[in-house]
Amino acid sequence: MKKHLLTIFIVLLIVGLVQAQDNKPQTGAEGLGDPYFPQLGNGGYNAEHYTLDLKWDDTSNRLDGTVTMRAKAYNDLSRFDLDFLGFTINSVLVDGKEATYKRDGRELQITPPATLKQDETFETAVSYSGVPGKGVPPFYDVFAEGWIRYDKGAYVASEPDGAAYWYPVNDHPLDKASYTFEITVPDAYTVAANGQLQTVVDNPDPTTTYTWETRDELASYLATVNIAKFTIQKAVGPHGLPIRNYFPPDKADALTKIFSDFPNMIAFYETIFGAYPFEAAGAVVIDSSLSFALETQTLILFGKDIAVGRTGAQTVIAHELAHQWFGDSVSLSQWKDVWLNEGFATYASMLWMEHSVSQAAMVKQMDQYYSIVVAQGSKYAAPANPPQDDLFNDGVYLRGAWALHALRLKVGDKIFFNIMHTYYDHFKYGNASTGDFTSIASQVSGQDLEDFFQQWLFDEKVPAKPDQVFLP
Ligand code: TRP
Ligand code: ZN
Repeated sequence: MKKHLLTIFIVLLIVGLVQAQDNKPQTGAEGLGDPYFPQLGNGGYNAEHYTLDLKWDDTSNRLDGTVTMRAKAYNDLSRFDLDFLGFTINSVLVDGKEATYKRDGRELQITPPATLKQDETFETAVSYSGVPGKGVPPFYDVFAEGWIRYDKGAYVASEPDGAAYWYPVNDHPLDKASYTFEITVPDAYTVAANGQLQTVVDNPDPTTTYTWETRDELASYLATVNIAKFTIQKAVGPHGLPIRNYFPPDKADALTKIFSDFPNMIAFYETIFGAYPFEAAGAVVIDSSLSFALETQTLILFGKDIAVGRTGAQTVIAHELAHQWFGDSVSLSQWKDVWLNEGFATYASMLWMEHSVSQAAMVKQMDQYYSIVVAQGSKYAAPANPPQDDLFNDGVYLRGAWALHALRLKVGDKIFFNIMHTYYDHFKYGNASTGDFTSIASQVSGQDLEDFFQQWLFDEKVPAKPDQVFLP
């Protein structure tokens, strides 16, 4: 009897200890396990909404203000990280109370005054000031790192990891969130950001505050704030979709013509992919030769050289617009799969060419792409296997587009467009991986596509060019 009581006591003690162990508050991981970017994003919580209350000074390019993140804890948390580089931090509050913090490279480690409880919502407010990018090494140098000053104002282009160069954020597409931007600028400027303009308030001092808000969540690299003098051009897309374009005043007439097919492009993509995902659409054209465009959600960013006086402008516009479905609505689960963005957007722009010009024009362009891919040999990566330090390798774009084209030629138009539509519908407003796409393709077609995808997506050797014969 006594022995039994002792056994029961010991069992209860162990259970108690194990439970205590279980409930021990955790430290949120400093990354989200992305194999190419282990430090991007952070574990332990899910960001739901950011409010960026920032004042910009045009002479110094200084930012000054507070960024608030509302988030939900996955576990009991004693500490968690944000990604953030540069600036002087003035204070960090968690639920209104002073928190302690430490900085280590791109990690901002925050220790709240009290443990955060699992499943509870909390709010972190970081107040900071400084010139973006000052004194910080570029982490992943593609085209632009976050907040960029140019002679006419400032713009933001952050793919893949530039968001942390201008605001504290859980910087990975796996943690999308909605945004409010409250941006204060000298009176002469206009601000264009993601979502819809809510209010414009002229302050007592010579500044104006523009408040923009997004309905939907977005990946951090797709957040953009653009400050300059703009002419606003409005149009209406399918089902009354508001389109607002922000153009440099002296190029507004030319750009209005260049973007005149934008609503038709949206309508076309709706017929093949599904409804346009967001509450607004449009473009901001930066009056500077950036030699790039970026699919910033609901407000696509173009360098002036990409849009104005260029023969391929329609193809680039169609490419960036397609990203609203592929990249923005269906986001990456890991950066290595970036062909799900770039291959899809490139092929979508070919489908627009087929629709708006002719199938012969598209076939000819695809022939050219194939020749380029073959001529460049090993310089072009297999679409789903780009080098870690060259994510946006042209192979991801051109061979990626060809992988989809080859799939279409193999399974026929009906099944191919069913695959595209089903994949989009399944993963919209979420995240997907290469495996998610290939399983949808196999399911919808009922075919064993394993060897096909191995060759087109992963093998270094470029597969033989299929005849461009379209099956119904
Ligand atoms: N996603 C862009 C495109 O549509 C290319 C790109 C990658 C980019 N990284 C960038 C553009 C950084 C601007 C800034 O092809
Ligand atoms: Zn692209």
